Amino acid sequence: MTNTSPASPADTFVLGDRPVRRLGYGAMQLAGPGVFGPPRDRQGALAVLRAAVEAGVNHIDTSDFYGPHITNQLIREALHPYADDLVIVTKVGAVRGADASWNPALSAAQLRQAVHDNLRNLGLERLEVVNLRAMFDVHGPAEGPLDEALATLAELQQQGLIRHIGLSNVTARQVADARRICRIACVQNQYNLVHRNDDALIDALARDGVPYVPFFPLGGFSPLQSAALSNVARELDATPMQVALAWLLRRAPNILLIPGTSSVAHLQENLAAGRLELPQHAMDALQQVGASA
Ligand SMILES: NC(=O)c1ccc[n+]([C@@H]2O[C@H](COP(=O)([O-])OP(=O)(O)OC[C@H]3O[C@@H](n4cnc5c(N)ncnc54)[C@H](OP(=O)(O)O)[C@@H]3O)[C@@H](O)[C@H]2O)c1
Repeated sequence: MTNTSPASPADTFVLGDRPVRRLGYGAMQLAGPGVFGPPRDRQGALAVLRAAVEAGVNHIDTSDFYGPHITNQLIREALHPYADDLVIVTKVGAVRGADASWNPALSAAQLRQAVHDNLRNLGLERLEVVNLRAMFDVHGPAEGPLDEALATLAELQQQGLIRHIGLSNVTARQVADARRICRIACVQNQYNLVHRNDDALIDALARDGVPYVPFFPLGGFSPLQSAALSNVARELDATPMQVALAWLLRRAPNILLIPGTSSVAHLQENLAAGRLELPQHAMDALQQVGASA
C-alpha cells in the first residue's frame, strides 16, 4: 500500500462521552463456526484481541450472544484488566437456541439477564455502551415499538449498570422515536459499499454528531466482491478490503468501523486501511458500486 498519510487526530470520534479511534474491532468472528460454540483456534483468538489493543484499537464490539458467552469470555481472558481508554460495546435483545438460532429476547426480565450476563462474562461492574438489538426481523430493520425495552435499559442505566444506550438493526423511525425517549449514543446497522440502505440516516446522524457503526463493513459472511473495488485496490497498491474500509472512513465523519476477523494478519491489514487515502476519482468509481447494487 503506497498511497498513505500519517494518522491524524481526525481519526477519533466521541462514542458515548469518550473519544475512540475510528478503526475498531468487531469480536463476533472469534466464536466457533456460525458464531456458535468455541473457536477452532482458542490461542489464535486471544492473540487477535491482544494484537488489536497493542495496535491502538480502543473500541471493541461484542455481545454475550456470540458463542453464546464465549466471545465475552475470550475478551476477558485476553484483555482484563482493561486499558483505561478501551470502550467495549455490547448488545442485548437476542438469545441463541440450542440449534444456534437467533431468537428475540426483549422482555424486561430477558434484558436484565442479558446485562448481568455481559457484566459477569466481561468482568465489568458497568457496561460502557449497550446496544438494543431490534428483532422484529432478525435479518434487517423492521418497524415495531422499542419503548418498553428502552425503558428497561434506562432503568438499568439509572442503577449504574449501563453508561450509554445505543440501537442496532433499526429503522430511521425507530431511531427518531428512541431519541425522544433517551439519549442514543450510537446506531449499529448493516452498511457497506454495496448495502447502502442507510445513506440518509448516516447523514442525519452525522449532523447531530451521533456515531454510526456499520456492521458487516466487509460484507460479513459473504465478503464484498466488485470489479470497481478490485480496480481501485490495484491502482493504490492496497487490498479490496482496505479500500472498502477506507471508503467507509471517508463516507462520513461519524462512521466508526468494527471489521471482524479471526486472523492477526487480516487485523493488521484492516487497521492499515486508516492510512489509505482515496483520491476523488476512486471515490467516484466506488460510488457506482452502491448505485448499481
Ligand atoms: N448488530 C448486529 O446485528 C451485528 C451483526 C453482525 C455483526 N455485528 C458486529 O459487526 C462486526 C463486523 O461484522 P462481521 O465481523 O460479521 O463482518 P465483516 O467485518 O464485514 O467481515 C468479516 C469477514 O471478513 C473476513 N475478513 C476480515 N478481514 C479480512 C481481510 N483483510 N481480508 C480478507 N478477509 C477478511 C473475515 O474472515 P477472517 O476471520 O478469515 O479474517 C470474516 O469472514 C462483528 O464482529 C460484530 O461485532 C453486529
